[in-house]
Amino acid sequence: MLLDHFLVYITSLVVVSAQDPSSSASANDVSGPQIGKAASLACDSIRFALGSSIVESSGAEYNATAQGPWSLFNSLDQPTCIVYPRSASDVQIAMKQIVKFGSHYAVQSGAHSAMVGWNSISDGVLIAFTHMKNASYSPATDTITVQPGVHWGDVMTAVEPYGVSVVGGRSSDVGTGLLLGGGISFVSPLYGWSADLIKEIDVVLVTGQLLTATATNEYSDLFVALKGGANRFGIVTRYELYPAHTGNKDQKDWFGGLLVLPGSASEAVSNASARYVREVTDPNAGLMVVMNTKNLTDVAANIIYLFYKGAELPERIFGDFLAIPPTFQSLSPLSYFDISNMIPGGDRGNGQQFGSSSWVGDEATFWEGYNHLANFTKRFDSDLFASLMVISPVPRSAWTARQSAGPKAFNDPGVAYASMNFNIVHSPGVTTLPKGVDEGFRFLLTQTPPSPGLPLFISECDPSQNVYETYSGFAALQKTYAKYDPHRFIVEHTVGPNGL
Ligand SMILES: Cc1cc2nc3c(=O)[nH]c(=O)nc-3n(C[C@H](O)[C@H](O)[C@H](O)COP(=O)(O)OP(=O)(O)OC[C@H]3O[C@@H](n4cnc5c(N)ncnc54)[C@H](O)[C@@H]3O)c2cc1C
Ligand SMILES: *[C@@H]1O[C@H](CO)[C@@H](O)[C@H](O)[C@H]1NC(C)=O
Ligand SMILES: *[C@@H]1O[C@H](CO)[C@@H](O)[C@H](O)[C@H]1NC(C)=O
Ligand SMILES: *[C@@H]1O[C@H](CO)[C@@H](O)[C@H](O)[C@H]1NC(C)=O
Ligand SMILES: *[C@@H]1O[C@H](CO)[C@@H](O)[C@H](O)[C@H]1NC(C)=O
Ligand SMILES: *[C@@H]1O[C@H](CO)[C@@H](O)[C@H](O)[C@H]1NC(C)=O
Repeated sequence: MLLDHFLVYITSLVVVSAQDPSSSASANDVSGPQIGKAASLACDSIRFALGSSIVESSGAEYNATAQGPWSLFNSLDQPTCIVYPRSASDVQIAMKQIVKFGSHYAVQSGAHSAMVGWNSISDGVLIAFTHMKNASYSPATDTITVQPGVHWGDVMTAVEPYGVSVVGGRSSDVGTGLLLGGGISFVSPLYGWSADLIKEIDVVLVTGQLLTATATNEYSDLFVALKGGANRFGIVTRYELYPAHTGNKDQKDWFGGLLVLPGSASEAVSNASARYVREVTDPNAGLMVVMNTKNLTDVAANIIYLFYKGAELPERIFGDFLAIPPTFQSLSPLSYFDISNMIPGGDRGNGQQFGSSSWVGDEATFWEGYNHLANFTKRFDSDLFASLMVISPVPRSAWTARQSAGPKAFNDPGVAYASMNFNIVHSPGVTTLPKGVDEGFRFLLTQTPPSPGLPLFISECDPSQNVYETYSGFAALQKTYAKYDPHRFIVEHTVGPNGL
């Protein structure tokens, strides 16, 4: 199918293995066989407490979970055991044993991380939330409660009859880890970052303590840190979310879809994107641009996803894109439910790399960045299946839409910009990241840095990027981390963002 590899669009990430010295997991830790021994002891102990139906080391379910990650690079790990919690208390027991024996561990919710080792592990305990997938809406409290294992598409389906929705992923297969990264949705211009709609978070600390963090209770520092701090602050067992009142699936009050534009129009697409990022302030507009540099003459090199809450796509907003003769287009009235199910994004089978930048809307920056990526792609052509520059505008309204939203781990930089994702899709059958490609990719990221003062998007970063450092609340975040994990167990025993 023409669109297959684009619909996978944002694949994921890079490449540091759990034992790579540059990753934080292995810092001054036991090595070799001792890592495996600690994991075995932790698994035995958790199995003793929870039983062998909850703690598995082989079998069909174990295989399915181990092979489940979206990035092929993460699907070959063999966890010492997989813990399938049914409740927060199971997570508490697992966490206590993991710490007691000094075992490495990983947490998996929707399995969409593109970063090597962030949702999988060998010689360690994997906590997988595939048995905690409830999602429900309560009209009484006007909130949506989700367990961590659910995917956004399933949440949408569960709550749609009530005329409400979530500010979830643009791919329906993505899971709740998105909230811990901040979360960018097609409707973020209208409703804010996904994390702005979190009311409460239940989290198991490294001590095994279960607590509820909110914007106003004694754990408000932790609440702020969890909204953008990723997997460094504890294991979340429940989110309570404010809904977006979008109407049900038959309420087609949006218009849009996708345009496929040829490689010959790439400079025009790049220019149109930069101008859109700089000028468009209307919160009813949603956009994502995916530019593939694998074949510069491809008639399907660029895919533009564009939506407007209204009866048509306004010329003043989308005119530059609509002026380019498309190879293919699909535009129609849509409900938000339709929009959020348009890109399933669940295709597996390729190793993935993500790298992030953040750019203000400037034509030269966009086109130069595109050309750096194109040069990288040409250099490694035979290794790569696709090589995408994905542009996600973050208009001012994403920060102001939800007046009551408190602070997140990252702060409003005060200007409109685009969150940029370089997504390298490796050829099928390539099961580990080629070293040369990885080095080339890291060099590419030094050629395409963020515009001054802008935060990087932690859900789309390369593990080599220190995202926390780009947060203006970095010092406060470090303080919060030190308060909740004074012995630095988490950064030393699970792979995740560097720099805390
Ligand atoms: C195809 C695709 C489309 C995407 N689209 C979007 C998008 O539109 N908007 C957006 O904002 N992001 C998007 N992303 C990025 C996505 O938000 C992140 O990859 C996110 O981390 C995925 O969460 P998950 O639960 O699916 O993944 P997982 O791989 O299961 O988890 C991701 C990370 O979060 C940690 N984690 C997950 N759950 C918990 C928990 N309960 N407690 C503690 N740590 C936890 C994991 O350990 C891991 O480090 C996309 C990614 C892909 C691959
Ligand atoms: C699980 O996968 C292993 C190989 O990785 C295989 O030997 C085993 O038969 C599989 N088990 C089941 C129940 O499918
Ligand atoms: C999850 O849903 C199941 C089935 O509807 C229900 O029995 C269970 O109580 C729910 N659990 C939670 C924690 O809401
Ligand atoms: C893109 O913008 C640049 C700078 O404004 C301009 O020089 C160039 O001609 C534009 N190209 C196209 C195809 O629009
Ligand atoms: C690049 O795309 C063009 C047009 O879609 C196609 O004819 C050509 O075969 C492609 N080249 C490669 C190397 O795939
Ligand atoms: C890409 O490579 C070409 C050919 O080597 C070079 O002329 C161009 O400057 C490079 N572009 C960038 C942005 O580095």
